[in-house]
Amino acid sequence: MSLKNKKKFRKTYKNFTLEHIVHIFEDAKLTAEAVANKILELSIDKKSKSQFFNIAVSGGSTPKQLFELMASDKFASLMPWEIIRLFWVDERCVEPTDSESNFGMTYDALLHHHYIPVDNIFRMRGEDLPADEIIEYSNVLKKELSERNGFPVFDLILLGMGDDGHTASIFSNSMELLNSDKSVEVGTHPVTGQKRITLTGKTINNADLVVFLITGKNKAEILNSIIKKKPDSLKYPASFVGNYLGEVEFYIDKSASSNI
Ligand code: 6PG
Repeated sequence: MSLKNKKKFRKTYKNFTLEHIVHIFEDAKLTAEAVANKILELSIDKKSKSQFFNIAVSGGSTPKQLFELMASDKFASLMPWEIIRLFWVDERCVEPTDSESNFGMTYDALLHHHYIPVDNIFRMRGEDLPADEIIEYSNVLKKELSERNGFPVFDLILLGMGDDGHTASIFSNSMELLNSDKSVEVGTHPVTGQKRITLTGKTINNADLVVFLITGKNKAEILNSIIKKKPDSLKYPASFVGNYLGEVEFYIDKSASSNI
């Protein structure tokens, strides 16, 4: 991060505080089930108002169990699929058929059932030139979503957290993406150098509801630091995201909460 960006970041986030709402469950499955129930509750409410439910989902391994649960007999017949519109928080810059693809993971876990109408699935095109796709996808968001504070508004943004404290594809090497004036940017994995398409901090922080789904003891130490707002939490991007009111909900299992 350049010195100019560091100063801008510090100025923006020096008094940044969030209200944390923490839900702890026995294990990963019960945690995923709680999030599935939250999605069911919110989407049924939207249906009752004849509105769409616009949700942006993350990738990685954690949400796979959630998507499989949503597609299971327990939830599939209850979900108002016809009003759910699916967007992504981030995508690796690979083909959708690549094992690294977030879309590919979601397709294998949920979308291959074709519950969600194809016109309601808004895939980030990881196979396209990143600099082009961030423009394309920001135009999709502008067209498909309402706007608040100059940024698109999601009903729900579902986030994970890496064991390095990143979220979306905003890593500690690119904290300026939290403060970007664009709605979509290009992120870079700090170890592999893999390019990613990612929603920016201002887009995430403009959502009606931001939910973290985090499980596993490998997340416990950083999660503890973030939820207890310890000084070292300021180096983790996951410390700086919440909804437009400054609230963020954590759905975590006991393993991830062991230090809380
Ligand atoms: C991605 C995700 C990323 C993810 C975290 C947690 O593309 O990798 O969007 O932000 O949520 O890395 O990943 P796990 O669930 O695999 O721990």
